[in-house]
This record gives sequence, C-alpha cells and structure tokens, in this order.
Amino acid sequence: MGKRNRKIIITIDGYSSCGKSTFAKAIATELKYIYIDSGAMYRAVTLFALRHGLVTGGVADEERILGAMPEISISFRPDLETGFPATYLNGEKVEREIRDREVSNNVSPVSTIAGVRARLVELQRAMGEGGGVVMDGRDIGTVVFPDAELKIFMTARPGVRAQRRYLELVSKGLPADREAVVKNITDRDRIDSSREASPLRRAGDAVILDNSDMTPEEQMVWFRELYQRRMNES
Ligand code: DC
Repeated sequence: MGKRNRKIIITIDGYSSCGKSTFAKAIATELKYIYIDSGAMYRAVTLFALRHGLVTGGVADEERILGAMPEISISFRPDLETGFPATYLNGEKVEREIRDREVSNNVSPVSTIAGVRARLVELQRAMGEGGGVVMDGRDIGTVVFPDAELKIFMTARPGVRAQRRYLELVSKGLPADREAVVKNITDRDRIDSSREASPLRRAGDAVILDNSDMTPEEQMVWFRELYQRRMNES
C-alpha cells in the first residue's frame, strides 16, 4: 500500500457537546474508516452501574463497580440503519439507553475510576490496532493512542455547546430543559478536566479546532486540508 493510502489512526478529543461525534462520523464516512465512540463505552458501564444500584445521584461506589467489571462486556456491532457501529452491553443493544439523562448525569463520576479507565483503554487500543479508525473521547490522543498520526482537539464556546445539546435532545424527542443542559455541560467539563486519572487536556501535537462559528461543511473543508498536508508530510 502506498504511503498516501495507508490507514492511520485519527483521534478527536475535546469538551462535551462540541460536535465531536458528528465530525468523527463525517471523517469516517469520507475516508471509509471505522468510527469508535469511546464515550459510549463509559456510558455503557454507567448504565450497568445504574441498573445495579452502583451509582446514584452522581456518587459512584468505586469498589463495587470495579468488582463488577468482569461481568461487563461492551462491544460495537454494525447498525444497518445508521451505517455506524451501535453499542452493546452484555449482548443488548443500548445505543438509545446510554444517551438518557440519568446516564449523562452519572457518567463523569464513573469515568474517574482508574480501574474502569484501564479496562476500557485496553479495549480501545485493541479496536484501533490495525489503523483505519477515527476515535473520539477525552484522552484518545493523550493516553489511548499517544502515537496517533493525526490528533484533533475540539472546542466551542459554552453557550454554543449548550444550544447544540438542547437542540439534539429536542430533535430526539427527549426531555430537554435549557438550565439542566447548561448545568450538565459545565459539571462534566469541570469533572472531566480536573479528575486525577487521564484528565481532559490537549495533547501537545493535537491541532485545535474551534467550531463555534463553523458549519459541518466548513469543518470538513478544514479537515481535508489538514489530512492532505499530514499525509504528504509523512
Ligand atoms: O463523549 P461523551 O459525552 O458521550 O462521553 C461521556 C462521558 O464519558 C464524558 O463526560 C467523560 C467520559 N469519557 C472519558 O472520560 N474518556 C473518554 N475517552 C470518553 C468519554
């Protein structure tokens, strides 16, 4: 395979509701890469913990969640309807359930648990092994794939992010309350950035994309230019 056609690993990290997954999916479609939503894995563990009373009201029972990890199996399987991988928890499709408000409100405390992260990072590395992958999350360029060839760090103004999240909930017919959305985004940013285990931060070699005033098409124009440059360089 020629250098330019080789399949690389692309990492996309950044704050909540920046449009990481929309952007990552568009890239995966264009390059015929596999899209992996690492946040869905933390959400699946959180859903399991909620169902078993291991996390409630934003407080996680660390020891019992760690003890339950061997019982938790997470996988992605192709979804013909969306064209993207859907998340499965112990064989059950949970793509919709993991986006519920209860999960959003409890996922940050669950993802601060170092043992949970270690297990999920192991799975993520195995999934990206052969390249041809776009993975989004918080620590993909820093911890999961520190040697990835192309790293992007996404950001947008908090007001813009809250509005996007609100519209997303409304479009899905889910309960949406502006104040609650702002609070959830601010809380998650704070916990994700200040936790001890793999906090959200930009990798030194990640390129920043502030998409506050950009359309999805403009982001793709930006990406194509970056991608071409990177493939020509190496
Ligand atoms: O991308 P998302 O909003 O669906 O992610 C949900 C939560 O999972 C997020 O608040 C923090 C956590 N997460 C993480 O700690 N590390 C990742 N690589 C991805 C997500």
